Amino acid sequence: PLVSIVGAGKVGSTLAQRLIEKHLADVVLVDIAVGLPQGIALDLLEARSLEGHDRHICGTNDFADTAGSDVIVITAGLPRKPGMSRDDLIATNARIVVDVTRQAIARSPEAILIVVTNPLDVMAYLAWETAGVPPQQVLGMAGGLDSARLQTFIALELNVDVAEVSALVLGGHGDLMVPLPRYCTVRGVPITELLDEAAIARLVERTRNGGAEIVQLLKTGGAFYAPASATYQMVEAIVHDRARLMPAATYLNGEYGITDLFVGVPCFIDRRGAGKIHELSLTAAERHALHTSAESVRTNLAIARA
Ligand code: NAI
Repeated sequence: PLVSIVGAGKVGSTLAQRLIEKHLADVVLVDIAVGLPQGIALDLLEARSLEGHDRHICGTNDFADTAGSDVIVITAGLPRKPGMSRDDLIATNARIVVDVTRQAIARSPEAILIVVTNPLDVMAYLAWETAGVPPQQVLGMAGGLDSARLQTFIALELNVDVAEVSALVLGGHGDLMVPLPRYCTVRGVPITELLDEAAIARLVERTRNGGAEIVQLLKTGGAFYAPASATYQMVEAIVHDRARLMPAATYLNGEYGITDLFVGVPCFIDRRGAGKIHELSLTAAERHALHTSAESVRTNLAIARA
C-alpha cells in the first residue's frame, strides 16, 4: 500500500517513520518547504538497514509523486503556539487544506483522506467539500487521540496498566469536546464506580486541555507522538480493512441529531473509510454537550467559508 502524507512537520514526519518502520506501507512525504521532505526521507532511508525494514519513503515538493495513493493524510498547516486556541488557526489553515486537498485528490481520486490539520472538524469538512468525494471517503483524526489521553489520565489516577483502560471522547476536537465517563472502563468496570465525581471531573478537564498542556510545555508547537500514533491506527484500519470501531470526525447526516457537519462519533473504519456510525444512547446532558460542541464547529465552519 501507498500512503501519502501532506506536511512533513512534526506530526507528518513522525507518522512517516511509524508507517515504514512498522512495515505498514510505503510513504510519499510532501511539503511546500524545499528540502524538508527530501531531507527527512533520506534520513529515514539511511535508518532502514539499522531498523531492518525495506519499506520505501520518498520526500518531494511535487504532488505528481503522490499519484495512486491508497490513503492521503493531511497534516499541512500551522500548529498552535502557547495561548492560542485551535480556532485561531482557521483562516490560514483553511487556505492550505483546500489547496493541498485539491492537488492530492486529483492524483488519487479513490484514496481515503484522513485530515489532521486543526481546527480538525472544520478542516475535515473543507477537505470533503473540496475533494468532491462521497463523505465516507473522508475522516478526521481526533477522537482516537483525545480518548488515548483520557485513557492515560485514568490509568495514572488509578495506578493501573493503561492496557486495561478503555476510554471514549466524542464531539469536536476543541475545548468543548465530550469525554464520556459512563463509557470509560477498567477491565469492563465503569470508572464511575471506581472514582468519585470530583476526580472524574478533573480527568475530564485535563483531557479537554490535553493539547494545550503539551503546547505550554513544548512552547514551539503542539503534540505529535500521540497524534501520529492515533493517525497510524486509522491508517492501519484502512489498509488492513479491520472494521475498527473508534471515534473519528465523520460526516453526520442526522445521526445524533446533527446534520451536514463533521464531528467526532464512534464509527467502524475499514478500507472504504468511514463505515457504519454507531449511535450510543446518551443521557440528556451528554447529548446537550455533544450538540453544544457541534454548534461551535458549525460556527467555525461558517467563519472558514466566509
Ligand atoms: P508543523 O509546523 O511541524 O508542520 C506543518 C507542516 O506543514 C510544515 O512542514 C509546513 O511546511 C507544511 N505546510 C504548510 N503549508 C503547506 C502547503 N501548502 N503544502 C504542503 N505543506 C505545507 O506542525 P505539526 O505539529 O506537524 O502540526 C500539523 C497540524 O496538525 C497543525 O494544524 C496542528 O494543529 C494539527 N494537529 C492536529 C491534531 C489532531 O488531533 N487533529 C494533533 C496534533 C496536531
